[in-house]
Amino acid sequence: MVGTGYVGLVSGACFADFGHDVVCVDKDSKKIDALKRGEIPIFEPGLDDIVRKNCLEGRLSFATNLSEAANGADAIFIAVGTPSRRGDGHADLSYVYSAAREIAEIIDGYTVVITKSTVPVGTGDEVAKIIRDARPNAELAVVSNPEFLREGAAINDFKHPDRIIIGTDDARARAVMSEIYRPLYVNQGPLLFTSRRTAELIKYAGNAFLATKITFINEMADLCEALGADVQDVSRGIGLDNRIGSKFLHAGPGYGGSCFPKDTLALIKTAENAGSRARIVETVVEVNELRKRKMADRIIAACDGTVWGKKIAVLGLTFKPNTNDMRDSPSIPICVALLAAGAEVIAYDPAGMPQAAPLMPGVRFAKNAYDCIKDVDAMVLVTEWEVFRALNLKRVKSLMKAPVVVDLRNVYGGSEMTSLGFRYLGIGRGLRLSWGAERSDNRQIRQRALRP
Ligand SMILES: NC(=O)c1ccc[n+]([C@@H]2O[C@H](COP(=O)([O-])OP(=O)(O)OC[C@H]3O[C@@H](n4cnc5c(N)ncnc54)[C@H](O)[C@@H]3O)[C@@H](O)[C@H]2O)c1
Repeated sequence: MVGTGYVGLVSGACFADFGHDVVCVDKDSKKIDALKRGEIPIFEPGLDDIVRKNCLEGRLSFATNLSEAANGADAIFIAVGTPSRRGDGHADLSYVYSAAREIAEIIDGYTVVITKSTVPVGTGDEVAKIIRDARPNAELAVVSNPEFLREGAAINDFKHPDRIIIGTDDARARAVMSEIYRPLYVNQGPLLFTSRRTAELIKYAGNAFLATKITFINEMADLCEALGADVQDVSRGIGLDNRIGSKFLHAGPGYGGSCFPKDTLALIKTAENAGSRARIVETVVEVNELRKRKMADRIIAACDGTVWGKKIAVLGLTFKPNTNDMRDSPSIPICVALLAAGAEVIAYDPAGMPQAAPLMPGVRFAKNAYDCIKDVDAMVLVTEWEVFRALNLKRVKSLMKAPVVVDLRNVYGGSEMTSLGFRYLGIGRGLRLSWGAERSDNRQIRQRALRP
């Protein structure tokens, strides 16, 4: 496994758990040293147990040197990063190509080289060319096997996938790939064999579709606020339709994370280069960016139009719960904009604070959620960690200076919050002014909005 990040470490550990012999390789010697000491560099529920067990049983090991690790390997996975290239949004493939060059040097006997990294259509062709140029007689097949795991649920996703996409026309490679995934299923596994280019596109199409679904419900949330409807009910109402499905229909502050932002941009670039623009995806990216920036305005509006000199608590910083990944998290533009507007920002996240600190200089970090909200003028919930759902709301209110709660994930019940005396603002739940004393205005506005 070349690259021991989220995908490489989870995939390597799970393949070892299937019974295969796996060596996870990374250039980052600190990461490898930590793993050799039994320390897991990422926060991923259940991963530490699987890593520990498989290391103890001798199926999983770690190395910095590819030639030692890949000696005699039947399959070599490339799971290195493919971040956005600065300036144009295209996927930066330098890590993938450099891994391919290293693999070319050590390949020995028939080897299946598999790109697990998310890579634009045609990358497999280039990887094959790089290896063949360096080693014209090498026996190999280059396969695309994109990964669909979700951070926070990665082990379960890897072990119980909806589908496994394998892009290759090489019969021998198909057999090797089937063997690798065989322990996952008793009879027929959810393996879908396609051409390599198709497999590469499936990954981008999947992520772009999910990003579109999120952006669609976010736009519906705005419409709910304009019309006095409730997006939670709209979401349930459309999600129960099997053709639509209920997943990825939770309105919020806009998508972030290590995949959707970069993969939508890369798809747009790929489509542009192919002369077949992806106009829906272009709009999704634009709408989402704008939304993330508008979230701070929403918080400022909830604080009577200014946060200057006010103390604001931010609960949750990672792009979603159960991860310490801060890549493109909506909390970053929110915290930066609140600081720029003159607020004192104090934040708490159960796992992501060390990663967040360098991205938001000026933010202070608290020991826990209650510590974070002490004497604040407003509490903003950005990431829906379980621990925030279970807060004692009476205690919350007694600790805050002003009872203003901006809930960007609709975790709390609006009417419960209002009856507890909070000025509560969720996302897409009734009219935007629908907190506290402005209720009667709302009725008038709602009537106006509903007039034909
Ligand atoms: N994170 C996710 O949830 C997720 C899900 C599906 C797909 N993906 C895709 O998987 C790929 C990897 O993502 P990630 O989040 O695991 O990235 P990551 O940044 O966490 O890890 C990449 C690792 O590769 C290492 N590396 C780079 N070049 C190397 C080389 N030549 N040899 C050895 N190691 C090398 C880096 O040091 C780093 O540790 C990306 O293409 C991403 O889009 C990610």
